[in-house]
Amino acid sequence: MCGIVGYLGKQKAVPILLTSLQRESYRGYDSAGLVVFESGQTVCLKAVGKLEKLEHKINGHQRLTGGLGLGHVRWATHGGVSEANAHPHTDCRENIWLVHNGIIENYAELKEILKKEGHIFRSETDTEVLSHLIEKFFQGNLEEAVRKALRLVRGAYALAIVSREDPDKIVLARLSSPLLIGISDRGEYLVASDANALIPHAKKVVNMDDNEIAVLTRHDLLVLKEKQPENLELEAEDAQKKGYPHFMLKEIMEQSDTVENAIRGRLLVNHGAAQLGGLESVKEKLREIEMINIVACGTAFHAGMVGEYMLEEYAGIPTNVDLASEFRYRKPILDGKAAILAISQSGETADTLAALKEAKRKGALSLGIVNVVGSSLSRETAAGVYNRAGAEIGVASTKAFTSQLTILALLTLYLGRQRDLSVVMGQRVTKELKLLPDLVKRVLTLDSQIKKLVEKYKDYDDFLYIGRKYNYPIALEGALKLKEISYVHAEGYGAGEMKHGTLALIDENFPTMVIAPTDSVYEKTVSNIEEIKARKGPIIAIATEGNEAIKNLVQDVIYVPKTLEMLTPVLSVIPLQLFAYHMGVVRGCDVDKPRNLAKSVTVE
Ligand code: AGP
Repeated sequence: MCGIVGYLGKQKAVPILLTSLQRESYRGYDSAGLVVFESGQTVCLKAVGKLEKLEHKINGHQRLTGGLGLGHVRWATHGGVSEANAHPHTDCRENIWLVHNGIIENYAELKEILKKEGHIFRSETDTEVLSHLIEKFFQGNLEEAVRKALRLVRGAYALAIVSREDPDKIVLARLSSPLLIGISDRGEYLVASDANALIPHAKKVVNMDDNEIAVLTRHDLLVLKEKQPENLELEAEDAQKKGYPHFMLKEIMEQSDTVENAIRGRLLVNHGAAQLGGLESVKEKLREIEMINIVACGTAFHAGMVGEYMLEEYAGIPTNVDLASEFRYRKPILDGKAAILAISQSGETADTLAALKEAKRKGALSLGIVNVVGSSLSRETAAGVYNRAGAEIGVASTKAFTSQLTILALLTLYLGRQRDLSVVMGQRVTKELKLLPDLVKRVLTLDSQIKKLVEKYKDYDDFLYIGRKYNYPIALEGALKLKEISYVHAEGYGAGEMKHGTLALIDENFPTMVIAPTDSVYEKTVSNIEEIKARKGPIIAIATEGNEAIKNLVQDVIYVPKTLEMLTPVLSVIPLQLFAYHMGVVRGCDVDKPRNLAKSVTVE
């Protein structure tokens, strides 16, 4: 939720910290701050609002030349949005300074104890408790004090800590929130919550694991548990907008390539099968599993819902899909014959990680579909498939979603061909998958048409999204996109469920987006269109090219190419992404950094 960064090296820390914070600004953007060592003294600057506010303050400050510093972008959890609550936080003697991503669950009781011992608090945050707790144990050696303090702490944290009295050192600690150390080829150290923030300076990366403490000094990196640096597989331009006004639009427009990336080298067209290198190690176990339980959050959850239909219809495997935040507190009946499939773009979503650990505890085989290489979830699962969608910077998940759907289709092929899926049906699916990148390219050409459509619908304050079977989850996803990008109220619903209540909402002021490709349930969806039409509700339909009849039933139609029913969600969701994007732009919203949200939700 928040983003933390750090730098220890010979260069000026401030410009490097700011570049990294810019790269992490989608993780939190209600306030920001940094602390740098300047000839033995510490200079701390904080500002409420976007990062530009802090940059403005820094430009107004005398030149900061120190080569050691920490930075932070905040997404408030404890304490309102204010300069006092912005990070870094310090102790009574302004010796210990730290930045934190996570939540300290027992901060209130620790604060009471520390107050009784005379500590003075300057903020309402949970984080500040840590700087005073470390102060309590500090006797000249920072990592020693950190180790003792953390023994009393419950919660989640990625921490970077410095001390005026034990200078030239950054101490790091991690428990469930992501924390990476970047190493440049000049022996400098960078610290970040996200690999994007390490480029272009770092060439090597160390992913910290839970319960690890690391000590960075000018000459050494010590992780208090053995670690091997890996190559940093990221291109700088991934984090660029490439001429688009927003990352969201850039990422929507990349989907033909990202769907191509998802299938490249993974289709065995002649065998009507898929080859997924990341599953080879559990190939035989996968043959034995009798059920799959998918867990995920938000957009990834909607992808899981589509996966449920695919796996049951084409692979014949009983499949459940659960919100990870519910699954982790439910009493799921799982055993060694079950597989848990966790889907996550960031690979750091706390609820999904916890649900996965819960299922592993019950003996389920752990699988993952993840976009961020080296993320916690990719290391927590026995096997999995990477999306290869590249960095997704826009808070609204778009290219990762269509990539997740494509990977779920590949997984369905892989497991189906281990079971009763015929080579002929398998070949049909592989052929359609091969055509998908070009079909996506065709849908992306609808951008200007959809932009015009938004002009027509921009003043409505409520929308209903409906769909059936494979496109019921797409109705949920379309509604989520409109809500999170344009703050317009929208409800996603199963079309067949409307007459059981929601139909009461419909009148001429309540437009409905109907996802109605020509599929096995098309006729049923048409009857739902008739129900809305009878109540004078305006209707926009996502329909299959060649379906002229639907024009007589609805106000506006967006046509998408024909494909296999199980793949229609990949095409039908893109116009909904563009609709939400243009609605957000026309309503003046910050589409890349929607209010109150953050890219990866690393706390419960
Ligand atoms: C989607 O646009 C949102 N950003 C959010 O719902 C997201 O899908 C959810 O937080 C899950 O994130 P993950 O895929 O990184 O686990």
